[in-house]
Amino acid sequence: MKTKITLILFAVCFQMFAWGPTGHRVVGEIAERHLTKKARKKVKAALEGESLAMCSNWMDFIKSERSYDSLSSWHYVTIPSLDKYHHEGELKGDVIQAIDRFIRELESKEYSVDEKFALRCLVHLVGDIHHPLHVGNGEDRGGNQVKVKWFGRKTNLHRVWDSDIIDNQKISYTEYANWINVTEKDQVAKWQEASIMTWVEESISYRESIYDLPEEGKLGYRYNYDHIEQVNLRLVQAGIRLAGVLNQIYG
Ligand code: ADE
Ligand code: ZN
Ligand code: ZN
Repeated sequence: MKTKITLILFAVCFQMFAWGPTGHRVVGEIAERHLTKKARKKVKAALEGESLAMCSNWMDFIKSERSYDSLSSWHYVTIPSLDKYHHEGELKGDVIQAIDRFIRELESKEYSVDEKFALRCLVHLVGDIHHPLHVGNGEDRGGNQVKVKWFGRKTNLHRVWDSDIIDNQKISYTEYANWINVTEKDQVAKWQEASIMTWVEESISYRESIYDLPEEGKLGYRYNYDHIEQVNLRLVQAGIRLAGVLNQIYG
């Protein structure tokens, strides 16, 4: 019983780590829709039938498991400004290094754990790196330390971006994917050509406007209105780029 409570508390404390469940599922669902036939078949086999949407949150679900503690630094990276990429993750690893590593593992088929682990991690982390506050400025743990209110409820800026805005749309992940997956073919190709460091630079470029908060940090309809397009752009870009990476690996 005691262990169970500790585990629950632990999970609650650390749920501030990534796009929330719906955000990650949207990324997985959009990626799935942009896979080639061949890649879809191979990915499905590797995931033993699980969809990209449903495997996308696994990295968060295992956070309360002590044996996976070493994975916690892989969800984000700290880059105060473009000329200052803190290699705090040099030993522990950050989201850039982790993505790079899993792409290499999947291409070479030389796995540190196995193919399913590499895929689940890659699906999750391509989502995280597109979350502008997962490329942190080094001052506030990616906005986790910025206390705000969301429609009167206490939260923090990081969580507003992980899940509060997305959940506020009150639609399922498939409905969400239908809503935002409306990209022209040449746009898809352009997004898929961009390098991982470009994904990072884009996240940094969005950071400043995210911190444009009203007095007393009372967020609601206005903040939603001002930022929903940014949220949706990052989700759809992440999905399309994940498909691009997987098509390259499995195509
Ligand atoms: N912890 C420290 N920096 C972080 C970030 N940018 N995102 C999530 N967790 C963090
Ligand atoms: Zn994460
Ligand atoms: Zn987060």
